[in-house]
Amino acid sequence: MIDPTRGARHYDVVAFVGSLRSGSYNRMLFNNVRRLSPANMAISELTGWDEWQTLDVDLLNDGIPDAVTAMAQRIAESDAVLFVSPEYNYSIPGGLKNGIDWLSRVSPQPFTSKVVGIMGASTGAIGTARMQYHLRQVLVFLDGHPVNKPEVMVGRAAGEFDGEGRLVSEFYRTQVTELLENLARQADRFKGRVSP
Ligand code: FNR
Repeated sequence: MIDPTRGARHYDVVAFVGSLRSGSYNRMLFNNVRRLSPANMAISELTGWDEWQTLDVDLLNDGIPDAVTAMAQRIAESDAVLFVSPEYNYSIPGGLKNGIDWLSRVSPQPFTSKVVGIMGASTGAIGTARMQYHLRQVLVFLDGHPVNKPEVMVGRAAGEFDGEGRLVSEFYRTQVTELLENLARQADRFKGRVSP
C-alpha cells in the first residue's frame, strides 16, 4: 500500500474507461481498481467523451465545445490520469482516441506534464499491449508522463474475472495495487513534492 509517511496527502485521479460495452472486461478491471485503491486516492471516471463528434479542423474553428473544455480543466486540476481500455485492431479504440484528440486542442493542453497510468484487458493473449504502446506514443506528443511499470495487461480476460467481476488472480490484483502506488509516487515527483 501507499507509504503511510505520506500522511494525509490525497490523490485526485481521473479515469477513462475505453469500452462502453455492457459486460465489458475493462469496466470490470476498473471496478477492481476502485476496490483496490488506497483510502487517500479518489478515482473519478470521466464520461461523455463518446458523444463528441468526430474531430475535424472545421469543427475546431467553430470553437471547442464546453464539455471538452470542462473535461480538460478537470484533467488539468487532477493529480493523475488513468486509462483502462481495450485494444481495437492493435491500437486505441477510435472513440477514445477521438476524445483525446479533442482534449489535446484545449489550451492549456491538459496532458502536459500529467502523470498517466495505463492498463487494459482483452480477450487476446497479450492483454492490450499494442494499444498501450500506441497510447504511450500519443502521450509523448502530448508531453505526458506514463508510469512505466508495472504494465497491467490482462490477457484472455474471459477467464480472469469471477462471477462478481473480481480479478481471480493475485498476480493481477498485486499489479493493479502497484500501479496505483507508482502513480501516486510519480505524481509526487512531478509536483515537486519529493526529489526524483
Ligand atoms: C477487438 N478485440 C481485440 N483484442 C485484442 O487482443 N487485440 C485486438 O487488436 C482486438 N481488436 C478488436 C477490434 C474490435 C473492433 C473489437 C470489437 C474487438 C477483442 C477485444 O479484446 C474484446 O472484444 C474485449 O472484450 C474488448 O474489451 P471490453 O469491451 O470487454 O472491455
